[in-house]
Amino acid sequence: MKKNPTVAIVGATGAVGVEFAGCMERRNFPVGKLVPLASARSVGKTMKFRGSDVPVQELTEKSFEGVDLALFSAGATISRKFAPLAVKAGAVVVDNSSAFRMDRDIPLVIPEINAARIREHKGIIANPNCATITALVPLWPIHKVNRIKRLIIATYQAASGAGAAAMAELLEATRAYLDGKPYQQKVMPHPYAFNLFSHNAAIEPDSGYNGEETKVIAETKKIFEDPEIAVGVTCVRVPVLRAHTEAITLECYEPITEADVRKILSFAPGVKIVDDREKNYFPMPIDASEQDDVLVGRIRKDTSDPTGHSIALLVAADQLLKGAALNAVQIAELV
Ligand code: A2P
Repeated sequence: MKKNPTVAIVGATGAVGVEFAGCMERRNFPVGKLVPLASARSVGKTMKFRGSDVPVQELTEKSFEGVDLALFSAGATISRKFAPLAVKAGAVVVDNSSAFRMDRDIPLVIPEINAARIREHKGIIANPNCATITALVPLWPIHKVNRIKRLIIATYQAASGAGAAAMAELLEATRAYLDGKPYQQKVMPHPYAFNLFSHNAAIEPDSGYNGEETKVIAETKKIFEDPEIAVGVTCVRVPVLRAHTEAITLECYEPITEADVRKILSFAPGVKIVDDREKNYFPMPIDASEQDDVLVGRIRKDTSDPTGHSIALLVAADQLLKGAALNAVQIAELV
C-alpha cells in the first residue's frame, strides 16, 4: 500500500459513507486523494474532508482507475458488482455490506479480535454486521479466557442501521406524531415514532429467523472460529437514531463470576465499562453515540443458571462508528 493512498468512498452520501470520511480525518489516515462516489442522483453534492468540499462523482465501472483503497457502504448489490472491479483496478476493498462476509476466502475482521486474518486477503476484506460487532467486541476477551458455549442476544437497533433515509424518517414521523398529523412511512415497513418492531430484514419462512439474526449467528461462528458456539438472537428496531443496544446472556464451559467478567473487561480493547448500580446508570445509545468504545454494563450473574456458568450484560455502541465506519477504517489502517 502506498504511503498516501488514493481512497474511494462508495456510498459517500450515505450515513456510513460520511462517517468513513470523518473517521479518516479524525484518525489522521494518510489519504493522498479522496474520491467520493455515489449514484448519479448525487452529482453536484460535495463531501466535507479536511476543510475542503470534495465533489461527489457518479459510481461507474471506470471509477477505480488510480484508486488504492476503496471503502464500500452502498449495499450488497453495489458491492457485488463494483468491488471486484475495484480489485481488478488494483485497489484493496474494505466492504461494509453483507455481500462477501460469509465467503470462505474473504476475511471477516474485527481488529480487536482477528486482525491477523487481514494478511490473508485477496483484495476484499469484509466488515461484519453492526449488531455482530457490538456484541463480539466485549465477548471475545471473555471467550478467550473461558470459552463461551451459548449466547442469547436481544437487540434494540437504531434507525442508522437502515441508512440516512431511515434516520430522516424517524425524525419526520416523530415530528408528525407530535403535531398530530398523519404520516405515511416510506422506508420502514411499520410506523416508527413511539413504536418498535421486529427487525425489517426479510424473514426466512421455514426457520422464522430474519436476515439480521442469521447474520449475527453465522458471523459470530466465523469471527470466533468456533463453529460450535450456540447463538440465539432476536433483532428489534427501536426508535433511536444512531446507536445499537443489546441484552446479552452468555454461558461458558467453565464457571464464571461477575468479578471475573469485570476484571477481563477492564483491560479489553475498545470496551468501556458503564455500570453504576447506585445511580442506575448503564449503557445507553445516547451515551454511545459518537463514541468509539462499546459500552458494557448491567454485569451480573444470570440467575436462571444456578450452576454459575452464565452472565448477563447490557451493551451499547455507535452503529455508524464501531458498528460500521470506524471498524472499516481500523481495518484500512492495518492494511
Ligand atoms: P445516493 O445518495 O446517490 O443514492 P444509506 O446507507 O445511508 O442509505 O446510503 C446509501 C449510499 O449508497 C448512498 O451514498 C447512495 O448514494 C449510495 N447508492 C445507492 N444506490 C447507488 C447506486 N446505484 N450507485 C451508486 N451509489 C449508490
